[in-house]
Amino acid sequence: MKPVIWELEERISEAMREYAQIPGACPAIVRPATDPKFGDYQVNGIMGLAKKIKADPVATAQAVANSLDLNEFCTSWNVAGPGFINLELKAEFVARRMLEINEDVSGLAVEKAKIPRTVVVDFSSPNIAKQMHVGHLRSTIIGDATCRILEFLGHKVIRQNHIGDWGTPMGMLLVIVEELQSKFIQNIENLEKFNPESPLPAPIPLEEIEQLYKDANKRFEVDSQFAAKAKKYTYNLQRGIVNTWWHIRNISLSSCQKIYDTLDVKLNIEHVRGESFYKNLLVDVVDDLKKAGIAIESDGAICVFPDGFKNKDGQSLPLIIEKSDGAFLYATTDLAALRYRVDELGADAIVYVTDARQKLHFEMLFAVARMAGWASEDVELSHVMFGSVLGAGGAPLKTREGENVKLKELLDEAVERANAVVEEKNPGLPAEKKAEIAKAVGIGAVKYADFSNNRTSDYIFSFDKMLAMEGNTAPYMQYAYARIKSIERKAQSRDVDIETELTGLKALSLSDPAELDLAKYLIRYGEAIQAAAADYRPNYLTSYLYELAQKFSAFYTNCPVLDAGPDKRPTRLLLCDLTARVIGHGLSELLGIGVVEQM
Ligand code: ARG
Repeated sequence: MKPVIWELEERISEAMREYAQIPGACPAIVRPATDPKFGDYQVNGIMGLAKKIKADPVATAQAVANSLDLNEFCTSWNVAGPGFINLELKAEFVARRMLEINEDVSGLAVEKAKIPRTVVVDFSSPNIAKQMHVGHLRSTIIGDATCRILEFLGHKVIRQNHIGDWGTPMGMLLVIVEELQSKFIQNIENLEKFNPESPLPAPIPLEEIEQLYKDANKRFEVDSQFAAKAKKYTYNLQRGIVNTWWHIRNISLSSCQKIYDTLDVKLNIEHVRGESFYKNLLVDVVDDLKKAGIAIESDGAICVFPDGFKNKDGQSLPLIIEKSDGAFLYATTDLAALRYRVDELGADAIVYVTDARQKLHFEMLFAVARMAGWASEDVELSHVMFGSVLGAGGAPLKTREGENVKLKELLDEAVERANAVVEEKNPGLPAEKKAEIAKAVGIGAVKYADFSNNRTSDYIFSFDKMLAMEGNTAPYMQYAYARIKSIERKAQSRDVDIETELTGLKALSLSDPAELDLAKYLIRYGEAIQAAAADYRPNYLTSYLYELAQKFSAFYTNCPVLDAGPDKRPTRLLLCDLTARVIGHGLSELLGIGVVEQM
């Protein structure tokens, strides 16, 4: 079902257009009311319209309000202040929506995309040969939540882990590999008592080489040690460097995989399409841009100068795609990847989740892709950027030695600390249960704290804050969930069969203000998901869930559930059940944060 705010927006915008009789859109700008005493929603767009048509805003609001028929949704739609319209939802409408959510077990009646898009999400993307550190946390989990949310809304999501496995760091690594290799070869030579100071007299006539080769062939058949060594040499010759690179890559990826699994991030080897994947496409990227007259030589390098990018002195900024020594760059690979994603993967949108320091890179990348016609205006290109994770002092989080904190260590510590809390609060639980709770709470706390911060700001990482049972934290949310589950368990022990009471439920009684308030908020789950998806901001979802938990608390304090009479109990049980389902769904399905039945 469509979020009610969309429904209202459409109808009121239409009424405004009818009234104003002007070409173009007349957005109603419906927003949740800032204060409950003004109702549930308010229309903010009328003042703007009145200005446009040079009319009195209050009179305009009144005329629009008079022409509206919102009986299906609202009890009232009254003009207020300098030209707002305040809207109040009808309890019957709210009840109807609640029942629709109840019926839709897996989808919670959230409206799916009318036109599903193919969205490529480029996230996590660490560089290989290094352990993942705290700097990779945000891309990995914000990217994953983005994918989960878009998938839930019915889009086709293609996850791409654009690992750095082919740039200059790799070149440096290969130098090390080569050094190791020559050492390795030297060892064998020593074993053979070969003296490198007096190499074979050269040149050797081919006849002699041929004879040596024939002898070697014979030895190969009879001398197994010789054969083994020859095979090893062949292997090194053919695959030595590439193979070693491959091993380093695999070792790195399997270490990343452990982190992804710990974080419950849906990324695996199939999603890895690192820089090396594009190696054969780089020459064409440069050639095609040159041919199109978009790339030119400048100081020996090949560059593109997209419009509108200038340095402090007003000089045009280049996006360098080939260095004077012929090497390709990060940007070259990104252009190849972008073209591949549009042409081969059929992307309608490409979303890059990286830190804010790469802002200029992506702005220039997008500008060049548009210039080259590799991404038409219908293809959305978004840089979903985020701020840094800071230590207590406000500087980027580092170890005492000044190193980036390893993600594994950070997550281990989170689980350890959560374990201590569980141990203290609930020492009697079986060890397995305690471990399960500690993992859900510890990892959940790190993820939730990150999501709940505005993604474009930096935030201070604090175990104490994120593990607190009070405030907008994972443990608070997980506890809210577990508490409702315990109500359900209590119901069972009292022989109240929730399922029978709730299946086929046809009518609700939302009479207590706390019931209605909670119900009105529950039916806004879809609205929160859509807002989080539109802006790629998981904090819209965490804020919603937090407020939901608070409203539940108020309801539960005011309205007895199991002791309610038969006229009230089914409605109250439904409020409990839907709250638990929404919190459980939001946390575990959309944010990848574990929930437990008992804490
Ligand atoms: N490997 C890069 C880094 O560690 C991030 C890559 C992001 N994705 C991209 N297509 N450039 O900074």
